[in-house]
Amino acid sequence: MWEYTDKLKEHFFNPRNVGEVADPDGVGEVGSLACGDALKLTFKLDGDGRIKDAKFKTFGCASAIATSSVLTEMIRGKTLEEAAKVTNKDIADYLGGLPEQKMHCSVMGREALEAAIENYRTGGRKKHELEGEVVCTCFGVTDKEIERVIRENNLKTVEQVTNYCKAGGGCGGCKGQIERIIEEAAGAKAKSRAVPALLKGQKLTNIQRIQLIQQTVNEQIRPALRAHGGNIELIDVEGNKVIVGFRGMCAQCRLAEFTMKDVVEARLREFVSDELYVEEDADSARQPHNHRG
Ligand code: FES
Repeated sequence: MWEYTDKLKEHFFNPRNVGEVADPDGVGEVGSLACGDALKLTFKLDGDGRIKDAKFKTFGCASAIATSSVLTEMIRGKTLEEAAKVTNKDIADYLGGLPEQKMHCSVMGREALEAAIENYRTGGRKKHELEGEVVCTCFGVTDKEIERVIRENNLKTVEQVTNYCKAGGGCGGCKGQIERIIEEAAGAKAKSRAVPALLKGQKLTNIQRIQLIQQTVNEQIRPALRAHGGNIELIDVEGNKVIVGFRGMCAQCRLAEFTMKDVVEARLREFVSDELYVEEDADSARQPHNHRG
């Protein structure tokens, strides 16, 4: 049995603002019945651009109902700029806390709010779209969503990520990728504490040279590939040969060799050494690229 706060129980037994606003200005729909949670949030603005009415319909557990209920209360009277600043942590805090296994309900509330605001700002044309590459196909969660819950909630383990966005909570096939995203997020944090960057042209030990290659992959190459739904892993360095594996979109891309030569090799030569050349890891299994249905 979950440990629920009195406030959560009260909102579960007496949810506020259930239903749909008539002739709404913004509509946000997230989740899906297949995934066990779904939320539709609608709002109406007054003449000053403040949210005068907000209602929800949800399919889910007690936490999903309570978080949706408080969300509608929290955003009433706010401008869209103010409402857009509401985080999943604010929603959980408003309830006096949520069991960690139920934090995904607060994330769903924040996502529905963002989707509704986006829907309003695009004149009702735009529905909620997933940003990034789907990592967890069981729950349709992308790398961008995972990165965000990690960053905003300072998450450190796969289990925590599952609690906050469900990714990894089904077949478990995506747990390796989630671990990598956690490591990357930790690496990005550590970067701000890093010693001064190694530079091309310096006399480097073998270890420093490999570090510089890894740093170049992380900072100069990976962001460019990720922007196109791909990713890259440094597998090994043998002399001047840098062995990499492509992931996501890059793994499927028929232009992978072009990408490898033109982006990866050029960047490594620019930042590390003119003598480097790149090869794709022969044993690196190419992973399927998942499109959202
Ligand atoms: S793919 Fe993520 S749990 Fe199945």
